[in-house]
Amino acid sequence: MGVSSLCRVLLLAGAAVAQTIVTDNGVVVAADETTVAPAAEAVASGLTPEALQLTDAVLANLTAHNLTQASLFSFGEDIDAVEASAEKRDSIVVNLASTASCKTFPGDKNWPVKPVWTVFDLLTGGALIETVPIGAVCYTNNAAYDAAKCADLLAKWNLSGTHSADPTSIMTTYYSGDTCLPQNGNTSTCTIGGFPLYSLAVTTVAQIQLAVNFARNANIRLVVKNTGHDFLGKSTGAGSLSIWTHKLKTLEFIESATTPTYSGPAFKLGAAVQVFELYEAANKYNVTAIGGECDGVGVTGGYIAGGGHSPMSSVYGMGADQVLSIDIVLPNGRFVTADETHNTDLFWAIRGGGGATFGVVTSMTVKVHPKTKMAGATWTLMTGDANGVPDKVFWAAMFAYWRKFPEYADKGTYAYSQLFSLGAPGMYLWIMTPWMVPGMSLVEFKAMIAPLLAEWAALGLVLEPTYFETDNLYDAWSKHFPFEGVANADLRTGSRLFPRSVWDNETTLEGMMEAVKSVVEDGSALIQYNIKAAAPAGTPASAANTHWRDAAWYVIMGTAWTKGTMEAVNVKITDDWMAKLRAYGPGGYLNEGDVMEPDFQDAFYGSNYDRLLKIKRQVDPTDLFWAPTAVGSDRWQVSNQTEWLTLQTGRLCKV
Ligand SMILES: Cc1cc2nc3c(=O)[nH]c(=O)nc-3n(C[C@H](O)[C@H](O)[C@H](O)COP(=O)(O)OP(=O)(O)OC[C@H]3O[C@@H](n4cnc5c(N)ncnc54)[C@H](O)[C@@H]3O)c2cc1C
Ligand SMILES: *[C@@H]1O[C@H](CO)[C@@H](O)[C@H](O)[C@H]1NC(C)=O
Ligand SMILES: *[C@@H]1O[C@H](CO)[C@@H](O)[C@H](O)[C@H]1NC(C)=O
Ligand SMILES: *[C@@H]1O[C@H](CO)[C@@H](O)[C@H](O)[C@H]1NC(C)=O
Ligand SMILES: *[C@@H]1O[C@H](CO)[C@@H](O)[C@H](O)[C@H]1NC(C)=O
Ligand SMILES: *[C@@H]1O[C@H](CO)[C@@H](O)[C@H](O)[C@H]1NC(C)=O
Ligand SMILES: *[C@@H]1O[C@H](CO)[C@@H](O)[C@H](O)[C@H]1NC(C)=O
Ligand SMILES: *[C@@H]1O[C@H](CO)[C@@H](O)[C@H](O)[C@H]1NC(C)=O
Repeated sequence: MGVSSLCRVLLLAGAAVAQTIVTDNGVVVAADETTVAPAAEAVASGLTPEALQLTDAVLANLTAHNLTQASLFSFGEDIDAVEASAEKRDSIVVNLASTASCKTFPGDKNWPVKPVWTVFDLLTGGALIETVPIGAVCYTNNAAYDAAKCADLLAKWNLSGTHSADPTSIMTTYYSGDTCLPQNGNTSTCTIGGFPLYSLAVTTVAQIQLAVNFARNANIRLVVKNTGHDFLGKSTGAGSLSIWTHKLKTLEFIESATTPTYSGPAFKLGAAVQVFELYEAANKYNVTAIGGECDGVGVTGGYIAGGGHSPMSSVYGMGADQVLSIDIVLPNGRFVTADETHNTDLFWAIRGGGGATFGVVTSMTVKVHPKTKMAGATWTLMTGDANGVPDKVFWAAMFAYWRKFPEYADKGTYAYSQLFSLGAPGMYLWIMTPWMVPGMSLVEFKAMIAPLLAEWAALGLVLEPTYFETDNLYDAWSKHFPFEGVANADLRTGSRLFPRSVWDNETTLEGMMEAVKSVVEDGSALIQYNIKAAAPAGTPASAANTHWRDAAWYVIMGTAWTKGTMEAVNVKITDDWMAKLRAYGPGGYLNEGDVMEPDFQDAFYGSNYDRLLKIKRQVDPTDLFWAPTAVGSDRWQVSNQTEWLTLQTGRLCKV
């Protein structure tokens, strides 16, 4: 079992239209799942995803057997990712001008006919899935209707696992046009909306290469979906083929990994490994791994690609700072490794330069650290006169807390809290979920926060936190972090990174705090992090947003809308709320940012943008990979959109 099994499938592809297989020894058999699933077989027999790769020799065989569609799967132009000359880049940009002005859309005359998709399905071992939106089971007028499945789906709708286990479901539903929501099953019709038309449930590198080559050669929009957590609609797209990475679950502990700058334990993580799996493995192997706070986020997918903030960041830096090596299928279909000595531009760019931009990551090797003790606190505070916390007292207390952020961040703090309106002026719910410091004992933690609690008491706020102490991250994380429901409402957020320099000037510090307060008073929720995200000494340079590196306060703000307020709410978030905050924090976090951020190039990538764009143009000259606010994305747009919100429901065209 190996490359040869793929070849056998390639052989049959010549006869694919007839749905039969001609095997190497000339036997003709029906093409069904049991005969054409080398991918499934490879996984069942314990092979790694890398064991099946597409090579020139395989493609030569395909051509030799007169598969008329063979050219659809050929590799793209060889571009040396490291050393393409400026001249070559310019000629590539000119080439783009000669290509079609839009990605081919279903219904267009160039859209591949059904037999071509059948061939593609056969070549990929039956991994192609024609999209049935997740909510279809709730639509009485849909072939997929199933009352029991619908009830189950509705009950599990706000669990992230419901969406990550589906090939195309996403957690911010409006990007696909809020089509086919299970809640509307009795009152509307399920349409495909902004969902991909097909997805490929990949288990091997070869399948990813075939999909990348096919999409590029056929000018089909390509998207990559891992878990579907993305807040900006980057993991879906109308009329697209989606590469669904969810089955790439390999996880290997490496006792001693060595690079020019690191020597120690590591994990090699498949593209689908989620935060909960990473933390469970770290616990098992007696180490600390760096991931986010939410259990379902994909580690080597969007999280590390976007930089990645972690409960451990104040001590060990960002998710991107842990990476030792990256395996990736490039836009030209080639499978390469990028690390400190190979494909070094890519190694720099992929760590922070954003998902769905430079190719499809198949695995990453990341550092892990010793287990360490943690101490911290949680609390829930209801404010307002009725709760004994007058508005003035509450804000004075919050300002006193904010003033200490650089000091706390330097001590290793990760403090994650949420502030929601209770529906009446001056009444809020403040949930600390938690405030935690790796490496600290509870005695030290209490000593650190005692001056703040004393200040609060003097202001009239008496708050008794719930303290905790553990000897590792896993226990702190599994017991003291909240359950986070997803896909609950149409809500949009933006984010800001406030740099330490603001604290150096009393006028700007007051201005920043007043601005955040005013946005909250105007109706925004506040999700805030007191965090440090500097790269630890000795970390190889990466493309992680330079605005992250000197931030002491990271906020996510925004709100939900109802049908009639959609435009007003969306315009307000970008042009009013974010505008007020941008004056103090020019940066935002690309994974949790405003999809309409006006200068996303600087806000999401900082001073790394120009170099990122150069690498993007070298590696992906025809923009096979596109996502809103991704590097180089501004020369395309989804047609038929409003000015104030980019959905993924239309055709993707050049600007
Ligand atoms: C409830 C919740 C909690 C969160 N908590 C944190 C947190 O603590 N810290 C933090 O930093 N972020 C956090 N995030 C944000 C999270 O990092 C992003 O949503 C991230 O994009 C998710 O990546 P994913 O691969 O799981 O999701 P997806 O939506 O599947 O993918 C996100 C992006 O990455 C691309 N992508 C995915 N896999 C690959 C791949 N293998 N190769 C190339 N591109 C790929 C997709 O095309 C898309 O553009 C949170 C989000 C939510 C909804
Ligand atoms: C090409 O096809 C031949 C004949 O079926 C087979 O023996 C050979 O292994 C194939 N080569 C590759 C690289 O797949
Ligand atoms: C492919 O086509 C060529 C030219 O028509 C023909 O000579 C050859 O026999 C064909 N090969 C196969 C394997 O059918
Ligand atoms: C549709 O209506 C039926 C009958 O009233 C009800 O049992 C079911 O829950 C409804 N489905 C949805 C998705 O609301
Ligand atoms: C686990 O790691 C900690 C910290 O490195 C070490 O002190 C301890 O001995 C280890 N325990 C086991 C069982 O290996
Ligand atoms: C999630 O959904 C369940 C069941 O519908 C509900 O009880 C719960 O309150 C929801 N939780 C969140 C955080 O949305
Ligand atoms: C502080 O910021 C204000 C407003 O930007 C500016 O006018 C003032 O000069 C700054 N003060 C110092 C000491 O830099
Ligand atoms: C955009 O175009 C798509 C595809 O033609 C269509 O289905 C969708 O409804 C359109 N969206 C809007 C907002 O007009």
